Amino acid sequence: MNDSLLDAAPGFDQPIAVLKHCHGRIRKQLSTLERLLAHLPEHGADEQARQAAAAVLKYFEKAAHLHHDDEEQDLIPMLRAVAQGEDAATLQGLAPTILQDHKEMDAIWQDLHEQLTAIAEGSAATLSSPGVQRFVQRYTAHMEREESTMAPMAMRLFSSEQMARLGAAMGRRRGIEVGNGAPAVAAPAIGDAVAGLRKDYGQASLNDDDVLDDPIAQFTHWFEQALKAEVNEPNAMNVATVDADGRPSSRIVLVKQFDARGFTWYTNYDSRKAQELRANPHAALLFFWSELERQVRIEGRVETTSTEESDKYFHSRPLKSRLSAIASRQSAPIANRADLERNYEAVAAQAGETPPRPANWGGFRLVPERIEFWQGRRSRFHDRIVYTRQEDGSWTRERLQP
Ligand SMILES: Cc1cc2nc3c(=O)[nH]c(=O)nc-3n(C[C@H](O)[C@H](O)[C@H](O)COP(=O)(O)O)c2cc1C
Repeated sequence: MNDSLLDAAPGFDQPIAVLKHCHGRIRKQLSTLERLLAHLPEHGADEQARQAAAAVLKYFEKAAHLHHDDEEQDLIPMLRAVAQGEDAATLQGLAPTILQDHKEMDAIWQDLHEQLTAIAEGSAATLSSPGVQRFVQRYTAHMEREESTMAPMAMRLFSSEQMARLGAAMGRRRGIEVGNGAPAVAAPAIGDAVAGLRKDYGQASLNDDDVLDDPIAQFTHWFEQALKAEVNEPNAMNVATVDADGRPSSRIVLVKQFDARGFTWYTNYDSRKAQELRANPHAALLFFWSELERQVRIEGRVETTSTEESDKYFHSRPLKSRLSAIASRQSAPIANRADLERNYEAVAAQAGETPPRPANWGGFRLVPERIEFWQGRRSRFHDRIVYTRQEDGSWTRERLQP
């Protein structure tokens, strides 16, 4: 940009503000151009006209090109690198239009340039009215496009590091070194930046015809697909419980068995979750298979597994896991890690190869009453099919709005 921009309020540590500020300058020059058009018939290429023509020439010959380069060489490629889903689709449609605008505005400018040069020199007083109008209209629409779409997208998607990189590149284009690419302003908190994380889902759909009548069979089908897709920890599920005062809490556990009876995991019967389940046996499970853009929500009552089942699973575990289960009073505070290790060593020293299952360790089984299958779809228009258990044990199902 020109010197007056460099003196202006936003610095290159706020590159989007700089680009918007450039638009302000462009609007000012377009207005000068329109006033010059109105001025010439009456006054010819007088001193005022010559100065106005020179100012418009100076701006559009240099600063406007730098501004276009900022967009073509930095802003658009950087947006392309980070945009996903809806943003990527928007950009795919928008970027070619922006680039085409630049070309066409340059072409109109070539005609105006000759006329303005002659006016600035005082050798002619002719300015094409249709040319000026086309130039003004084209630029105005172009800037509105950028301000309504690209600038907010960049503000949403760029990290502070990416902003700093964009600002540094724009500064370098004008011969200014900006903080070696390091953020020149305090980085926005990551907690605020999460609003810009956006993923569109489009891998699959879930039609009423696709799902099986029995939700456990449907879950089995999806679980097999999760295994095949090698999703991260497909058996990890969130368990939400509610305490005696109605306050919820949740944690991840591993499902160790599922069948028509329900979904089973193993834990400590003195843990917080166990205490809450004793106070209120209603709980909710949640599987999130991100790689398949799927979640399964399961709600029902929780019961303990039989001692035989708990024994069987306990003895199937590696010895160290069994010793850990014995040594840990899960959910109870302890002074430090060293004390925890000492407890383990003490248990290990006495336990032998086949320690018995402690009475306070075993399985919980959630007996489902409601199971919902969720498949992510494009633009947040997801598929949801929910099964509800009837009194006679049969299941009904219906579609829910996303
Ligand atoms: C991937 C993963 C798997 C876990 N699996 C179990 C499990 O199967 N059983 C268990 O008691 N805790 C498991 N935990 C630990 C629990 O999340 C939790 O910390 C622990 O059960 C104590 O919860 P509570 O104090 O609410 O009872 C797992 C944690 C993670 C992250």
